[in-house]
Amino acid sequence: MKEVAVEVDDGRAYGRRSGHSDADLYEVDAGTPAGELLRRYWHPVARSDEATSVPRSIRALGENLVLFRDGQGRPGLMEPRCCHRGTTLLYGKVENDGIRCCYHGWLFDAEGHCVDQPCEPDRGRNRDRYRQPWYPVVDYNGLVFAYMGPAEKQPVFPKYDIFEDLGDDEEIVIVDHFAFGGPSDAPCNWFQTHENTMDPYHVFILHNAISGSQFNPNLSLWPEVSFEGHPWGVTSIQDRPLDDGTVLHRVTEIRMPTIRVVATPTLSYLGKTNNMSWALPIDETHTRVYAMVRVPKDRDPQGLPTYGPESKAWHDLTEVEHQLYPGDYEAQVGQNAVTLHSTERLASSDRGVSMVRRLWKEQLAVIAAGNDPVGVEFGDDAPVIALVAGNYMLER
Ligand code: FES
Ligand SMILES: [Fe+2]
Repeated sequence: MKEVAVEVDDGRAYGRRSGHSDADLYEVDAGTPAGELLRRYWHPVARSDEATSVPRSIRALGENLVLFRDGQGRPGLMEPRCCHRGTTLLYGKVENDGIRCCYHGWLFDAEGHCVDQPCEPDRGRNRDRYRQPWYPVVDYNGLVFAYMGPAEKQPVFPKYDIFEDLGDDEEIVIVDHFAFGGPSDAPCNWFQTHENTMDPYHVFILHNAISGSQFNPNLSLWPEVSFEGHPWGVTSIQDRPLDDGTVLHRVTEIRMPTIRVVATPTLSYLGKTNNMSWALPIDETHTRVYAMVRVPKDRDPQGLPTYGPESKAWHDLTEVEHQLYPGDYEAQVGQNAVTLHSTERLASSDRGVSMVRRLWKEQLAVIAAGNDPVGVEFGDDAPVIALVAGNYMLER
């Protein structure tokens, strides 16, 4: 009798399919759908104190750029390759009116206008015809934001209510951090760090059950979780009844395109959030996170998580301790440089992640149809944006 081959799928690794990533979620380059959506908003590209009279290399949205601050205090952001014969402006000399290329001395102002050509007759009779490719930038509370999209779609620069009306005893500080602790840059795609904010279940598992309490001990209580979709983003609400009869009502928010608002997980600030963060997609496989924090002048910005029984800082952990007490960096970088969406198994607890992805794809469709994405404003009367996240203490 002839034997019949039976295909057995007992789940072993042999023969497994390789996965792939969803380009609409991870791409950042100009000309790609997601890259064009990102380019319809302002992004922080550096700390304001990094824009100086010494040109600095910047990488943002997959583009190599050079940042400087001229003698009048104006930040400038431009393509490094000089429009004359192509040497890099990284070796340029910053002057009162702009940046002068080291090679033949063409001088460009902060908006790329060529204002001097010392080797040309009359210092450049036709210099008005030349423009160094540049991007508009704005200093806001210690960060330099750039708009890297089409000129006709440039929105007004958005402002946020938690940074308005500062008292004399308050200040705004910038904290470069990746997910509250760890290095400021991470070798992974920005979107997997972004959607993490709508993954409140990992707070209980990763930051408590697996690694020991990394935040405030009250966050080790199992929360009642719900999610809400908004035109501008997604919120997650986590309620934890406390022993003293109150409820810790914690709201976190995601805003288009790269904003996450997470009230201090150390609970060092109660009430409405005192901070918000932006993920900067450096390129497809690198991300930086900038937090802007409002604090009384004599207080620590936000309190960082600690790791392991010795309450170590992330940078002091050994390799084995990173394995024993993993946090956000390990979990998110551990998903791969770009996670493989096709091999995921999204479950009911991933509802918030699904909502973030759905919102993103809806907005891809909005701009593909020729419309403006959510959250951009064009008039002079654009409202200050009111954030909703916080650690709210409610009566039970
Ligand atoms: S290459 Fe820059 S001025 Fe000539
Ligand atoms: Fe986390």
